[in-house]
Amino acid sequence: MKKDKLHIHWYPGHIAKAERQLKEKLNLVDVIIEVRDSRIPLSSSYANIEKLLGDKPRLLLLNKADLADKNELNKWTEYLRATTGCPVVVTDAKSAKDLNQVVKLAVELSEEKIQALIAKGLLRRAARAMVVGMPNVGKSSIINKLTKSSKTKIGAKAGVTRQQQWVRINPKLDLLDTPGIIPTRQDNQQQAVKLAFVSSVSENAYSPEPVARALLEMLKGKRSVIEYYNVGDLTLENIAMKRNWILKGEQPDTERTAIYVLKDFREGRLGLFILDELPQ
Ligand code: G4P
Repeated sequence: MKKDKLHIHWYPGHIAKAERQLKEKLNLVDVIIEVRDSRIPLSSSYANIEKLLGDKPRLLLLNKADLADKNELNKWTEYLRATTGCPVVVTDAKSAKDLNQVVKLAVELSEEKIQALIAKGLLRRAARAMVVGMPNVGKSSIINKLTKSSKTKIGAKAGVTRQQQWVRINPKLDLLDTPGIIPTRQDNQQQAVKLAFVSSVSENAYSPEPVARALLEMLKGKRSVIEYYNVGDLTLENIAMKRNWILKGEQPDTERTAIYVLKDFREGRLGLFILDELPQ
C-alpha cells in the first residue's frame, strides 16, 4: 500500500461472508437494534441498509453520543426518524437510563409479530431481538449493559443453532448475546475515510498519515482543535514541530503525529463533532 495515498481497502470476499453470516442470524429475531456511531450517523451504516437487514422492525441507536455535538445530534435524531421511519435513541457508555427506553421500544416494535403468532393459535412468547452494527460502534458495550441486570441465560431454542445464546431481559424480551456484525464497507471513499477516523475499519486497510491529514482538513478552523494543538494552521507538520517530534535532518515526524492525531480525535480530546453533513 502506498503510504501517502488516501484510500480505504475492502476485501469483497470477507464482506460477502460477513453479510451471509449476518443474514443467518437475522432470521432468528423479531426486532433489530441497529447501532451507529453518533459522530458519523450516515457513514456508520449503508445507504441501502434495509436491503441487508430486510423489512423487520428496526430501532436505531446513535451511540457514543458523549463524543458528538449535542445540538447537531438532536437534528440528526429528527432527520433519521423522519427518513427511516424507525424510532431513534441516543445512547452512550456512561448512561444507563437510555437503555430502559431501548427495551421498551424493542418490545413495542415486535408486538405486531407476537400478536400475529397468537392469532395463529400459538402461545404468547417473548420477542427476540439482536444488536447489529459496524465494528467498534459499541455493540458489545450495549449488549453488556442490557444484560447486566439480567443474567438469565435461557440457552438454545428449538431450531436454533446451539452457539446462539439468549438472555432474558424481561418477560417480554430475549436478546441474542452476541452482536451481528455489519461488515465495514462504503462505496463512497469520503464516507469510508470517516469509518477509519472512528476506528471502524481495520488498521490494515489504510495508512494513518493520509487519513489523519483528511481528518485535520475536515476539522480546519475548529477552535477547540486549534487550541488543543496550539498551532495556527492545522497540519501534521505544524503539530509535529510544536511537539518537537523531529526526525534526523530536522524533518517533522508526520507518521508519529498522524497516529496521535487519530487517537486524540477518537478519545474526544479535540472536541465534540459530527462529521457527516446533514442532508437538506
Ligand atoms: P463493538 O462491539 O461494536 O465492536 O464495540 P465495543 O462495544 O467493543 O466498543 C468499542 C469501543 O468503544 C470500546 O472501547 C468501548 O468502551 C467504547 N465505547 C462503547 N460505547 C461507547 C460510548 O457510548 N462512548 C464512548 N466514549 N465509548 C464507547 P475500547 O477502547 O476498545 O475498549 P475499553 O475502553 O472498553 O477497554
